Amino acid sequence: MTTLTTGTSAPPASVGTAHTRVEGRDKVTGAARYAGEIPFADLAHGWLVLSTVARGRIVSVETDAVLEMPGVLTVLHHGNAPRVNGDFISMMGTPPDPASVLFQHDRVPFLGWPVALVVAETSEQAREAAEALVVHYEKEPHDVAFSPGRPDAYPLEGHMPAETEKGDQAAGLADSAVVVDAEYHTPEEHHNPMEPHAATARWDGGRLDVVDSNQGSGWVAGDLAQLFSLDPGSVRVRSEHVGGGFGSKGTRANQVGAVLAATVLQRPVRVVMTRRQMFSLAGYRSPTAQRVRLGADADGRLRALDHSALSQTSSVHEFVEPSAGVARVMYDAEAHRTSNQVVRLDVPTPTWMRAPGEAPGSFALESALDELAEKCGIDPIELRARNEPERGPVSGMPFSTRNLLACFREGAHRFDWADRDPRPRQRREGRWLIGTGTAAASFPSGAMPSTAAVTAEADGTFTVRIAAADIGTGARTALTLVAADALETAPERVRVRIGNSDFGPAMIAGGSMGTRSWSWAVTAAARELRERLIPGTEVPPEGITIRSDTSEAVAALAQKERHSFGAQFAEVAVDVATGEVRVRRMLGIFATGRVVNPLTARNQLAGGMVWGLSMALHEEAVRDAASGGLYGADLAGYHVATHADVPPVEVDWVSDDDPEDPVGIKGVGEIGIVGAAAAVANAVWHATGVRHRSLPIRPDRVL
Ligand code: MOS
Repeated sequence: MTTLTTGTSAPPASVGTAHTRVEGRDKVTGAARYAGEIPFADLAHGWLVLSTVARGRIVSVETDAVLEMPGVLTVLHHGNAPRVNGDFISMMGTPPDPASVLFQHDRVPFLGWPVALVVAETSEQAREAAEALVVHYEKEPHDVAFSPGRPDAYPLEGHMPAETEKGDQAAGLADSAVVVDAEYHTPEEHHNPMEPHAATARWDGGRLDVVDSNQGSGWVAGDLAQLFSLDPGSVRVRSEHVGGGFGSKGTRANQVGAVLAATVLQRPVRVVMTRRQMFSLAGYRSPTAQRVRLGADADGRLRALDHSALSQTSSVHEFVEPSAGVARVMYDAEAHRTSNQVVRLDVPTPTWMRAPGEAPGSFALESALDELAEKCGIDPIELRARNEPERGPVSGMPFSTRNLLACFREGAHRFDWADRDPRPRQRREGRWLIGTGTAAASFPSGAMPSTAAVTAEADGTFTVRIAAADIGTGARTALTLVAADALETAPERVRVRIGNSDFGPAMIAGGSMGTRSWSWAVTAAARELRERLIPGTEVPPEGITIRSDTSEAVAALAQKERHSFGAQFAEVAVDVATGEVRVRRMLGIFATGRVVNPLTARNQLAGGMVWGLSMALHEEAVRDAASGGLYGADLAGYHVATHADVPPVEVDWVSDDDPEDPVGIKGVGEIGIVGAAAAVANAVWHATGVRHRSLPIRPDRVL
């Protein structure tokens, strides 16, 4: 028995102070193991085989020759795989992606659809056999042509209404002194976490045990329980370290394939996606075609706003990239209309990819605002100040906090915006034209129910258990600081264990809601524990554990518009001879609630801004109409910004604590990318006098 003292001499607050990652040393020394490298005795390796046609039917899978190859244990396909149940609604409120419900029928809905899993003693043997496997198809004509104006487009709700409308658009536009009417295009974009999707599954005394790379171990465990008709308590998913995830790391072919094979072979099986496979199996951001119409008085005050967006989904699953949603929060007008539509094509199903909706939507809307500022002869920041809404333009609800203008004020000051000549094509340095641009950013800020357990250990330390995921954001470290403050102890005395579905229901690392949702639950349990531990409390060997469940507290949050906001700034240089655009400087000032760990929050926001740069200038997946697949589906063919493309990126924030959150948090996960591409595009206009409404701004488009 130990006597604990806590709460008697409160240490300085940990939240708000810079902390390197608590698992940082393990990561850089290789001691931290990832899902694809954790050793298991008797491990077998699965290799996925993907369809080579974009639409049709599997006629036969020629397994005989492959089964004779060295080390091959089995070949699973629609003709022999165990039946699974794909008919359920997952934790995220959607059915599972059919591409994850492996080998249940002979239909092929897109190129890159999983048709077989070859399992062998080694990964190399599995790969060789997978590449030798012959599959015969009956081909059907396919359609992968994404373009605006398709008659088969239809409104799709997703997690928000498909369409909103108030006022009279025609009248609003007719009454406007200035009108902008422009179409914007963003290409298909892909996310590639450094660590590919990887899972190892095994049966352990009647329990399914999966080691996996995901954004929510409870999410994947729940899906696997449904898919394999198991009691939820008999599935455990662990994901201690995750090498990135931007929306794609839910339940996918890797986990399901590993479980199928482990069930058939009754031994542990690992399935790792290749980089190429991720381009058809891991979801992506749909291309968008957007039209923005703005009508304003001569002084820039909006009378009409119409933002309509088209994205694509697959023929087997509905997903909408809700680009027009951003207009429902940013700007008001008497006549206000937004619409999100999709077309179904013979392509893989898109998915959530960092700031789904807001990332492409803000490119269109914030570019249009810049065009309006130009037409009105008003500074782009002043234009936004004149159009700050009092309430949510569509919801009519008050904002919990909205510090957008504070971000612009601080950003303008640091970026020397007051010295800017608003006219385009005024600054030249040798062969470079120089310009600056700005754009606004926003992203929803919410909390989701979570559970946590906090234990006072007999040795005077504390253990936190929560099924959170640290996808590289520093979540484990943030929760350590949050728990330390709630316990009134030092972070060194707190051990945070995450990434284990046995720890109970919790929000995923997604929607920019992870840290906030988990911190709420950790704080609730830790505060109650601290109150329990009055001086002199005897702690038994098994410790004293307090559990929390924030379901009721989160549900009781007042109905408000809850969003983080930000102001993006970019300076570019454009080579008029080659069409090359170099971003020379980026600045982002954000209002994202209380910042838990300035070190990792800055990292998160800067990462998003770099992605925005990449989106503006580099990223573009090109679909081949003839085959239905992508050209160059790898990181050689799909260009992303590299170190040499990235200038100094300055990130800071204004004070913006959420008064209704126990820690004051709002969320930094996704807002960094929002508005960043528009800031770059607006800077390119300022440099050259030419508007770029299609991304990426490639050299051939600049010339
Ligand atoms: Mo994010 S797109 O919510 O993983």
